Amino acid sequence: MRTQEKVIANNLDKILDNINEGIHVVNELGQTIIYNEKMSELEGMDKEIVMHKKIDKVFPSLNEENSTLLLTLKNKEIIKNNQQEYLNKFGHKIITINTTMPLYLENGSIWALEIARDITETKKLYNKIISLQEKLYTDKDLNEEDNKYFTFSDIKGKNKKLKQVISYARQAARTDSSILIVGDTGTGKELFAQSIHSGSRRQNKPFIAQNCAALPENLLEGILFGTRKGGFTGAVNRKGLFEQANGGTLLLDEINSMSKALQAKLLRVLQEGLVRPVGGKEDIEVDVRIIATSNKSPVDSIREGKLREDLYYRLAVVLLHLPLLSERQDDIFLLSEYFIDRINRKFNRNIKGLSDEVKEIFYNYEWPGNVRQLEHVIEGAINIISDDNYIKKEHVKPFLIDVSSNNTTQQIDDKKTLPEKMEKMEKEYIIEALKKNGKNITSTAKYLGIKRQSLQYRMNKYNIDTSEI
Ligand SMILES: Nc1ncnc2c1ncn2[C@@H]1O[C@H](COP(=O)(O)OP(=O)(O)OP(=O)(O)O)[C@@H](O)[C@H]1O
Ligand SMILES: [Mg+2]
Repeated sequence: MRTQEKVIANNLDKILDNINEGIHVVNELGQTIIYNEKMSELEGMDKEIVMHKKIDKVFPSLNEENSTLLLTLKNKEIIKNNQQEYLNKFGHKIITINTTMPLYLENGSIWALEIARDITETKKLYNKIISLQEKLYTDKDLNEEDNKYFTFSDIKGKNKKLKQVISYARQAARTDSSILIVGDTGTGKELFAQSIHSGSRRQNKPFIAQNCAALPENLLEGILFGTRKGGFTGAVNRKGLFEQANGGTLLLDEINSMSKALQAKLLRVLQEGLVRPVGGKEDIEVDVRIIATSNKSPVDSIREGKLREDLYYRLAVVLLHLPLLSERQDDIFLLSEYFIDRINRKFNRNIKGLSDEVKEIFYNYEWPGNVRQLEHVIEGAINIISDDNYIKKEHVKPFLIDVSSNNTTQQIDDKKTLPEKMEKMEKEYIIEALKKNGKNITSTAKYLGIKRQSLQYRMNKYNIDTSEI
C-alpha cells in the first residue's frame, strides 16, 4: 500500500498534466499548491509564476469577492458549472466551465480545488447548431404536408390505463394549457407530446424539443431565452427557442434536471408570456405552449429539492402519467405485431410473428426500457433471423437484460464486448488455477497447458499479484 502511495505521489504531476481539464488547488492561505499544464494553458500563466503565491498577488484582477477559489475558501460552498470567458496570453478568447469545491483536510484546515473544462470548441459548435436551428425554423414554410410529427393514430395500445391517458391528451390538444408528461424512459413521452402538437391549433407552427439535462445552465439559458449583444463578452443577438417556437409548442425534456434559477425564469415566462434574453433590456412577448416531461415522480423531485413546487403547479395544469409497458402486458403482443409489421416493410422481410415461447418470455419480462426496448428487441431479432419464420427464444435472448436478478455484475457484464468478456474469464481462470497449484508458477503453467513465460506474460497483463490471491 505504502509503495502504491509513493508511486501515485511521484507521478501526480504527470497524471495531472496529461488530463484535459485545468486543475488548480490553493491551501488555506489562498496560495497555489497544484497548477496543472492545462490550467496554465487555459489561463495563459506560467506554472512557476503561479506556484506557492497567493492568487490575488498573481492575478491582479482577482480578489476575495470575485475569485471563485478564494470565495470557496471563505464560504466553504461548492460553486458548480460557473461559466467564465477571458483572453489568454495569446489573445484568444477562452470559455471555460468551472467547478470549485472545498477540500477538507484531516487537521481541520480547508483548501480549495478548481476544475476548469475548456468549452471553447463546444461553444462554437453550439453557436453553429443554434444558427442552423434558426434557419430551419424560420426559413421553412410549415404547412400540413411538412408536418411529419407523430399523431394520435401512431399511439398503439388497447390497455385501459393507456386509453385513459390518450383521452386526456386528446382533450388537452384542444387547449393551450401547459402539460407535464411523467413516465419512465421509452414509455412514449415524446410520442404523446408530438401527437398533442399535431392535434392542436398549433399544428402548422414549429414543434421544438430541448433536453434540459444535456447542457450546462448558462448555455441552456442562452438557448431557451436567446442572447443580446453585450450580455457577456462576445455574445451576439440570437433568438432563443421561445422566440423560434412562437405560435407553436416547446417540449422541455427532463425538466427536473433544469437548475432552480432557470426554473424561476421559466415560471415567469409561463405566468407573463414574456421572455427576457440573456443580456437584454427588454421583454419579448411570446405565444408558446409548453409541454414538459420528467422520468421521475415530480413529488419526489420536489421533495429532493430538484423541482420548484410553484413551477410544478404551473406546468401540471394537465398531468399525464404514462404507464410502464410491464403495467400493460395486454399491449405487448399488439405492439409486437405492429413493430414486426413495420420492420418487415422496412427491411423487406416476411417474419410471421412471435413464437409461443417468446410470447411467454415477453409477457413475464419487466421491460426496463419499455416500448423503445420492445421495438429494439424486435428489430435486433429480425436482424439475426435467417429465414422468414417466427421469432424464437434464441433470437431475443441476447437483447433482454435480466433485471429481476440482483446480481449487478451480471448486468454490467451483459454490456461487455466478447473480447472483454473472454479476457475476464481468462483472468479468473488463471487465478483459480494458481490457487489450486499453491501459487506455484511452473505447476500452474503445466496445469493450464501453457508455457511458463506465457503464464507470466498473462499474469502481468491482468495485473495478477500472487500475494493478493
Ligand atoms: N404506445 C405506443 N405506440 C407505438 N409506439 C410507441 C408507443 N409508445 C412508445 N412508442 C415508441 O417507442 C419509442 C420511444 O418513445 P418516446 O421517444 O416517445 O419515449 P420517451 O418516453 O420520450 O423516452 P425517453 O425518456 O427515453 O426520452 C418511440 O419509437 C415511440 O414511437
Ligand atoms: Mg424522450
